[in-house]
Amino acid sequence: KLPEPFTVPLPVPPVLRPVRPGHYEITQRAAEVEILPGLRTTVWGYDGIFPGPTIESRRGETTVVRHRNELGVPVVVHLHGGRTPPEHDGYPLDLVAPGAAREYVYPLDQPAATLWYHDHRADFTGPQVYRGLAGFHLVRDDEEDALPLPRGEREVPLMITDRSFAADGSFAYPSVDPSLLGQPGVTSEFVSGVLGDCILVNGAPWPVMEVDAARYRFRILNASNARRYRLALDPPGPGFTQIGGDQGLLAAPVRHERLQIAQAERYDVVIDFSAYSPGQEVTLVNRLGDGGTARVMRFVVTRRAPDDSAVPDRLADVRPLSRSDAVAEREFTFRRGGAEHHGMTLWTVNGMPFSADGVVAEPALGTVELWRLRAQNVPHPIHIHLAPFQVPGTAHGWKDTVDLGNGDQAEVLVRFEGYRGKYVLHCHNLEHEDMMMMANFVVR
Ligand code: C2O
Ligand code: CU
Repeated sequence: KLPEPFTVPLPVPPVLRPVRPGHYEITQRAAEVEILPGLRTTVWGYDGIFPGPTIESRRGETTVVRHRNELGVPVVVHLHGGRTPPEHDGYPLDLVAPGAAREYVYPLDQPAATLWYHDHRADFTGPQVYRGLAGFHLVRDDEEDALPLPRGEREVPLMITDRSFAADGSFAYPSVDPSLLGQPGVTSEFVSGVLGDCILVNGAPWPVMEVDAARYRFRILNASNARRYRLALDPPGPGFTQIGGDQGLLAAPVRHERLQIAQAERYDVVIDFSAYSPGQEVTLVNRLGDGGTARVMRFVVTRRAPDDSAVPDRLADVRPLSRSDAVAEREFTFRRGGAEHHGMTLWTVNGMPFSADGVVAEPALGTVELWRLRAQNVPHPIHIHLAPFQVPGTAHGWKDTVDLGNGDQAEVLVRFEGYRGKYVLHCHNLEHEDMMMMANFVVR
């Protein structure tokens, strides 16, 4: 019942129109959509679509988004990668009740970047995002606009997710309580994370996109709950030219033959299809998958066409931090165990499960700290709210999510800027997150 790969055209989520300048309204509701040809799937969507509409903002111009919750369960919206005051950051317990609405205010005093918004309800983020609560929020600025990068039809966001479907076309997520009103969690086979056997890009299974033999900019987001990808092009051609990461443009472009992308990470890349001939098919593959999950989508090069875009050698000012900038060092271990919840062994940070009042760090506003992150048992992609960081020794610019393999340790230099208040850091494997792999820090 899964479709033949590369038959469904790639959809691009619509850009949301403001109700008045800077003000947007989104209704979170259930809707029936056709994801698998001939079948109906009920999604929980922002405005009833999956992915949700794309919001486009300009740096430093406040964006207000009013969300109405018509889903019958509590929700909360987090703008992932946003420099957002704590009361608008989507703290996991700051819930919008069924039938209620609330306004989120985003000052967006930050460089152009590919941000995304998604549900963040404590204990239930995994199932709620799986049902469709995720969308792009792009920040643009004058510096980026001045670059000759591909734009318009040739600038495309790609949200990659994996899903499993039941025979009737509904999403198959192994919740203990599918009403999402009672006991949280997934059945025991899935405590390491929920993987699907069907790859969706922008909500379509293994889609196909016709492209000119020209440069395209793709903002790639892995919005999967638990799957990571190693993306490559087949045939490889010139590969990917990375121009940006989680938090915006890199100082200079970096060429990759493959891109390993963990949950919540973003890679902003240019692919130059002029290296291929018209008629050629170029498949985006996943070297970490097998069978259906080894394929992601396909590009079909249609024709030669004019292209006045370019990838300049200098993209943005990214001042590299050094260890001597750090005023404190802290260590966080992400592992299984240390606590139980409804009889399940939890995933923890420094052995402690998430709670509203535990605080693991109190950095001072305006400072840089060195955080040593360690992963045990399985890989963990770690995300820090509010504060962008650099991973010394890599060329990935400012990030907000870093992937750690089992047994790995990463040192990140974190800059606490913007606002004082309470924020979370957590694993972005959404099942780990729901099983408490999250902690609070308070910027003083
Ligand atoms: Cu993308 Cu705390 O989340
Ligand atoms: Cu994890």
